[in-house]
Amino acid sequence: MSVSLGIHIGHHSSCAVVRDGELVAAVQTERLSRRKHHVIRTLSDELPVAAALDIAGVRLDDVERIVSCFQGACPGGFGLHRPLIEPGFSLFDPWDPRHQVISHHLAHAYATYEASSFDEAAILICDYAGSATFDGADYAMGFGDWYSWLTSLDAPAVPKVECVSLYEAQTPGSYTLLERQFNIAHPGQGSFVYSIAGLYENIARYVIGRDNAHGQLMALAAHGVALEGSEADPGPLVTRVDDETLVFRNDWQHNMVLGPSREQKCCLAWRCQEATELALEALARRCLRLAGSRNLAVAGGVFLNILANTRLAKADFCGGFHVPSAPHDAGVSVGCAFHGARELGVRAQTVVHDRLGRRYDEADRAEALGHRDAFVTTRPVTTDELAEALVEGKLIARYDGRAEFGPRALGGRSLLASPLLAANKDRLNRIKGRQSWRPVAPIVPQTRAQHFLDGPDDSWWMTMSQTIPAEHRYALAALSHPDGSTRAQTLTKAQDPALHELLERFGERSGYPILVNTSFNRAGEPIVETPANALEMFLDKPDIDWLVLDGLLVERRDPLVVLAERELSLAPGVFLTQFYADGRRIATLTNGTDSWPISQEMHDHLISLGERPRPVRVLVDQLAPRPEDVELLAPLILADVLIVANPETQS
Ligand SMILES: [Fe+2]
Repeated sequence: MSVSLGIHIGHHSSCAVVRDGELVAAVQTERLSRRKHHVIRTLSDELPVAAALDIAGVRLDDVERIVSCFQGACPGGFGLHRPLIEPGFSLFDPWDPRHQVISHHLAHAYATYEASSFDEAAILICDYAGSATFDGADYAMGFGDWYSWLTSLDAPAVPKVECVSLYEAQTPGSYTLLERQFNIAHPGQGSFVYSIAGLYENIARYVIGRDNAHGQLMALAAHGVALEGSEADPGPLVTRVDDETLVFRNDWQHNMVLGPSREQKCCLAWRCQEATELALEALARRCLRLAGSRNLAVAGGVFLNILANTRLAKADFCGGFHVPSAPHDAGVSVGCAFHGARELGVRAQTVVHDRLGRRYDEADRAEALGHRDAFVTTRPVTTDELAEALVEGKLIARYDGRAEFGPRALGGRSLLASPLLAANKDRLNRIKGRQSWRPVAPIVPQTRAQHFLDGPDDSWWMTMSQTIPAEHRYALAALSHPDGSTRAQTLTKAQDPALHELLERFGERSGYPILVNTSFNRAGEPIVETPANALEMFLDKPDIDWLVLDGLLVERRDPLVVLAERELSLAPGVFLTQFYADGRRIATLTNGTDSWPISQEMHDHLISLGERPRPVRVLVDQLAPRPEDVELLAPLILADVLIVANPETQS
């Protein structure tokens, strides 16, 4: 057995395992820690090393290569607030001779090319910032050598930080770097534009008003148009030099005002998308020509942009196009693991599914249900019954088997609904805390996609865009952006037979074998990971009608009936606490041994009630004297049921 462990240390930190050439496990830290975009900058015990090995069914002793990538590592870049190794790090010995370190773009290149089915390819990597070096070259070396290099160099100059890399690769063979672009140090990083990722980053922050809003900016672009001649329109944001070269303009930012109108925001989003697609197209042309290939494999956060992906996939100069399920930095651990496998002389197998996370077993499900058994009922359910419920308008949370690795829920941790009922879009946007104008994405059997959508035949990872033909646009209005585009997942039967069957059954009843598929998580939270996470969110969101937990139907009991049955009160010795973490105020109840997070609203209500223990029914009566308030309060009580203790058992 040949086993390689990959570790990405940085934004979207993650771990992955390749066994005998097959990618068998990949997991992002955020799914386990429940902290969205969890950043880990050092070798830390928070890294999901044990989880990845466990999913792969191997032990650390079985691992022949440990390959790490430290994002942003450069001489002088560590120390002070950022040690390379966290004190007490215990997952493995960093100086273990099996441990290697590779550079960021090289890892991205491995992540896309090794996962593809290409024998040879041009590889285009594009992101905000990768590794920093003085010579601008890739590296792959033992941890000890790398540590010495990193800590002994008296920095002779400002390091170069990679942002675009062009490679060629053959099987079997080595990766050849053809060309590289670097970040340009500038005091006005928040507005000065020098790269595609920099452009998108700056405009997303300006238009949407917060970090990590790239997806929202892309969605908003569909609402915009060029407003030639208007002051609201900055004009094209790139200037063409030739087919392979565009330069970014920096003479438009001063015309932007604080608090732009919606029309200005939409226009700027559209211009940003236009520039992104043109710049990527020019880079792709150059990369393919220099590599002498027709196959293009891409990676880097920029390729979360599905409109740009689709443009490249359709381009006549591009014969084959591959984007992995996690093109962003989470996928770096996959590249690291593939690098280790290649070093061991193992040829990688094409990656055909993204269900690379943990499969929680019957005991996990039983334990989660045991904690909530007073508030839910369970029973087996048939595919026909689910299809019928979806036709009738039920919104169903589907938790099934292994967790997805990439940023999209692909059926394992998904919210499913009929796309034919416009109200479903509003319900889903309410659950997700998304803007009401944002459409939802569909899932469709791959063999049926061409009957209802125009676009690339396969979009396994929701990384491509399609157009809804005019004859279906009215029926499928919930899925459509204003320009008629949608972002579908195409599902093969082999990837998920049960979900494929459900789509077909729904199609027999409705005429459309298509369901809305959006990720099973609340705003600002990672996708649910465990059965307990799924149940907690289900009980918290009454807009979700049913939860299907690994094939078992979970239904919510009437909360008022539940409350009437139970004489519960706050347990003696339970204290309210409040503290700040990650910039958020966290409220909990604690008995000194365990603590349970509660919502801020519940915290404030309990404070307002004083210190005396109260039965829940009294709490409900006091908090919600009006029927409409009871309706509002019921999910709050259910969500916080753990704070309510049985006075007999003191549990
Ligand atoms: Fe990256």
